Amino acid sequence: MGGAHTRRSFMETSCKGLAAAGMLGCAGIPVLTTQVRSGKIEVDLTGFPELQTPGKGIMVRAEGAEEPIILVALGEGNVRALSGVCTHLACAIRLTGGTLTCPCHGSTFSLEGAVTRGPAPEDLHEFPTQVSGQTVTITLD
Ligand code: FES
Repeated sequence: MGGAHTRRSFMETSCKGLAAAGMLGCAGIPVLTTQVRSGKIEVDLTGFPELQTPGKGIMVRAEGAEEPIILVALGEGNVRALSGVCTHLACAIRLTGGTLTCPCHGSTFSLEGAVTRGPAPEDLHEFPTQVSGQTVTITLD
């Protein structure tokens, strides 16, 4: 068939359906569904204007990746790619109101992924990113 296997969808209106389908839950942010290629995930920034606004972000679900990744805008073109899985008991992290939170037991994290309230015992895992023009490349490790 061919063609790009990339699509963009919005989670806000489909949380219940996704939860029923056994997915990780509702991040409340746009979701990019894509694929891992050679251990990397590429994100075209032109499709996600929210990544221009500090504190906003998108969820990246890539076929071939072990976990969802939250790509967070930090301002001035900087982004950070963080694991979307809580370090406590592996619930799905949400990005709301400029804060990363875990709905299961209330842990919170800074936009850099640092634990700001437990019980999460560790910071969110950060994946290296490289920005080139309008493309962010996330390297899985
Ligand atoms: Fe996130 Fe418990 S699983 S706080």
